[in-house]
Amino acid sequence: MITTAKITWLESGEPYSEQFQDFYFSTDGGFAEAEYVFLKQNNFPQRFCELAHQQINTPFQILETGFGTGLNFLVTVFHWLQVANLNCTLKYTSVEKFPLAKHQLEQVYSTFSHNWPQLSFICAELLQHYPQTLSNVDSINTTYMIDLFDGKIQLILLFDDAQIALDKLLPEQAATIDACYLDGFAPAKNPQMWHNDLFNIISTLCKPGAGISTFTSAGFVRRGLITAGFELSKVPGLGKKREILRGTKPLIP
Ligand SMILES: C[S@@+](CC[C@H](N)C(=O)[O-])C[C@H]1O[C@@H](n2cnc3c(N)ncnc32)[C@H](O)[C@@H]1O
Repeated sequence: MITTAKITWLESGEPYSEQFQDFYFSTDGGFAEAEYVFLKQNNFPQRFCELAHQQINTPFQILETGFGTGLNFLVTVFHWLQVANLNCTLKYTSVEKFPLAKHQLEQVYSTFSHNWPQLSFICAELLQHYPQTLSNVDSINTTYMIDLFDGKIQLILLFDDAQIALDKLLPEQAATIDACYLDGFAPAKNPQMWHNDLFNIISTLCKPGAGISTFTSAGFVRRGLITAGFELSKVPGLGKKREILRGTKPLIP
């Protein structure tokens, strides 16, 4: 059976994880953080614009560890939908062991819609399709495929432990991911989301040339990702964060 998120609500309306004693996103400005850490470091939306000229519909694939409130997904979709004539589907796969129940997501999205009104139509579209109840999710049936905006966006939610869920994608989905967002809770509080076996699986799922980024600059994360085959650099963070990591899977290993 699935375990849903245990959340405490801050006065600002933002969620705080009781299980992990950590924030889902920066309380300094989650929208700007998602744009900076995950979109900018993966050269979005520029890479989205280049796809506008693509003739065949090969989906553009993003993989995320830690769906949480879906803020990174919402911000990505916001930018994706800005690009006119996109001849391509966005396939966004996200793994989440402790999903928010629909009523929790509704509460988060009322705050998001207040703080970032430009996201409100995406919040509404996702809520319309988000599973009504998670109580019938068992350990075998953990995948939810959700088509949004007439199929322009495909959201695949893997409600399971990251390593177990992503390992199941191999070998069929090896070398299919164009960009990866690593967004577990802080490594010291959530080591299950930051270890070499998981990094190796993620690297195998990524295409040569795929981008990867994360809010942490922890040394063992950097070393683990390099060992898994990524070229990495530290770049300045946003707000209180001094440094973050961005990288690519080299074209020639
Ligand atoms: C920092 S939050 C993600 C924030 C999210 N990307 C957002 O935009 O709201 C980290 C997420 O990782 C999930 N998580 C923690 N351990 C996990 C595991 N072993 N497998 C999969 N998900 C896990 C947590 O439940 C939490 O939702």
